[in-house]
Amino acid sequence: MRRPVIAGNWKMYKTQAETREFFQVFNPLVSATKHCEIVVGPPFTALAAAVESARGTAIAIAAQNAFWEPEGAFTGEVSMQMIADVGCRAVILGHSERRRYFGETDASVNRKLKAALAANLQPIVCVGETLEEREAGRAERVLNTQFLGATAALTTAEFSRILFAYEPVWAIGTGRTATPETASASHACLRCLAKEHFGEENASSLRILYGGSVRPDNIRSLMAQEEIDGALVGGASLDPQSFSSIVNF
Ligand code: 13P
Repeated sequence: MRRPVIAGNWKMYKTQAETREFFQVFNPLVSATKHCEIVVGPPFTALAAAVESARGTAIAIAAQNAFWEPEGAFTGEVSMQMIADVGCRAVILGHSERRRYFGETDASVNRKLKAALAANLQPIVCVGETLEEREAGRAERVLNTQFLGATAALTTAEFSRILFAYEPVWAIGTGRTATPETASASHACLRCLAKEHFGEENASSLRILYGGSVRPDNIRSLMAQEEIDGALVGGASLDPQSFSSIVNF
C-alpha cells in the first residue's frame, strides 16, 4: 500500500509574514489528517518561517531547489546541507520551470538528486513532456530520457527513497488538467521504467505524484486512479482553504 503524498509548490510567492498567516489557518484544517503525508514548498526566504510555523505538526517543509556542492564559491546558490540545516525534510528537483528558465538538465538533476540523498533529504523529482512533445507522439520517449538521466548510477537502495512527480508542462498553470486516464498512463510508464531498472519491489512501492492544475474539484477523480499516489500542487496550494480541501480529498 502506497501512502499518498500531497505536496504544495509555492513557486515565487509569499513573504515570511504571509507564510506565518498561511500556517495559522492551514494547521488546524489538517491537524486530524492521517491518510496522507503533507509537504509544503515555500521559497528559500520563507523556509525558516515555514519550519517554525509547522513545528509540532506532521507537515514537512520542502525547498524548491538546491545546489549539489555542500559549500564553496558558488555565488547565489544554497546547498542541500543548508536547506536541511534550516529544517527542510524534502527538496523538489528538476521542476519544468527550472529546466525551462534556469537551464536545469537531466544531468544536473542527477547530481542534485545524489546530493539530496546524501543530505538525508526526500527528493521529489519532476518529469513531464511539453505540448509539442505530446502532440508529436514523443511523450513516453521524453519520460524515458528524463527518468534515466535523473536516476543514472543510483543504487536500488537510493532509488527507494525518491518520489517522482509527473507534471505535463501543458497542464501547469493553464487550468488544463491531464485527464485521470492520461496521467495514469504516464505514471504507469514511469513505474514500468522503475521496474526495468530498479526491480519489481521498488517499482511497486514507488510513489508518483501528479502535478498540473490540481484543484479541490478535480483531486478526487485523480486520486481515484490506482496509479496516482498524490499531487504536486502549484497555484491552489497558496490558499490554506483550497490546499486543505485538496489534502483532505
Ligand atoms: P499549478 O498547480 O499551478 O498548475 O502548478 C503545478 C506545478 O507546477 C506544481 O509544481
